[in-house]
Amino acid sequence: MNLQIDARQCAMLEEMGVKVWGPSAPTPSLPSGLGDDAPPSPPQGGKAASSAAAVAVARPAKGSVAPRASVPLAARSISGAVEGMDWEALEQAVAGCQACGLCKSRKNTVFGFGNRQANWLVVGEAPGENEDLQGEPIVGQAGILLDNMLKSLGLSRAGEDAQAVYIANVLKCRPPANRNPQPEEVLQCEPYLRRQVALLQPQIILALGRFAAQSLLQSSVADVASLPLGKLRGQVHRYEGVPVVVSYHPAYLLRTPQDKAKAWADLCLALSVMQSRAGL
Ligand code: URA
Repeated sequence: MNLQIDARQCAMLEEMGVKVWGPSAPTPSLPSGLGDDAPPSPPQGGKAASSAAAVAVARPAKGSVAPRASVPLAARSISGAVEGMDWEALEQAVAGCQACGLCKSRKNTVFGFGNRQANWLVVGEAPGENEDLQGEPIVGQAGILLDNMLKSLGLSRAGEDAQAVYIANVLKCRPPANRNPQPEEVLQCEPYLRRQVALLQPQIILALGRFAAQSLLQSSVADVASLPLGKLRGQVHRYEGVPVVVSYHPAYLLRTPQDKAKAWADLCLALSVMQSRAGL
C-alpha cells in the first residue's frame, strides 16, 4: 500500500500545519529519535519504507505486567461479565454501567463510533461535554482535526473496508468538568475497551494522549504512568498482540500546533506498520 497524497489531502495536511514533501523528495526515513523536531516526510511505497525491519517493535518490559490482584473486584467482575459478549450486548452493558461515580453525572455513555470491521482503532481518553451530549467520541474542534488527520491517510470514521476506522475512548463516561480520569475509573472501564479490541481485532491501534497510552501500555511498559508521552512515541508497542502507536491527542495539538509535525510522523509510523503487515 503506497501513501499517495493528492492535492486535497495535501491541503488538509497544510491545514494541520504539516509540511508535505512532493514525490521528488528524498526517500524519507521513519521517525527514529524522540524529540526530533524536524518535520518528517510521509512514507513512500516500496521495501525501504515498509520493511518490517523499519519498524521497531517494543518488547514488553520484564516484570512490568500489572498484578491482577491490584485490579478492584468490581473491575474484575466486569471483565468476567463482558467476556464473550457481542457488540450489541457490550454496548448495552456500557449503557447501563454503574461501576463508578461517573454514571451519576453522565448524559450519555460514549461507547465508540465507526466501522466494526475496521483495521484501524483510534483510542482517545474520555468524553468531554460535546461527546457526552452526542454520545460520539472525539467530536467538536478536536474531532475535526482528528478527521483531517485520518483523511490525510485516506481513512475516515465513516469509512468502509480499507478506509474504515473505529474510535473508542478509555472512559465511556464524561468526567465532570473534564477533569482527568482517575486511576480507579480507568481500571473499572478498562474491560470494556479490552472487549472492544477483542471484537474488532484491529491491525493497528493509534493511542491518542497520555491516558490512552498509559491505559493500553500498563502491562507492557514498566512505570508507564511516570513517562511523558514523548517517551512513548516513535516505537511500536503491543496491546493484546496488536501493534500500538502513541501520538498526541488532537485537543493538545489544537493548543500546541507546533507538535503537529510530530503527530504526522506518528501517523506515518502507524501507516508503515500497516504496510508491513500487508507485506508491502
Ligand atoms: N477527548 C477524547 O479523548 N475523547 C473524547 O471523546 C473527547 C475528548
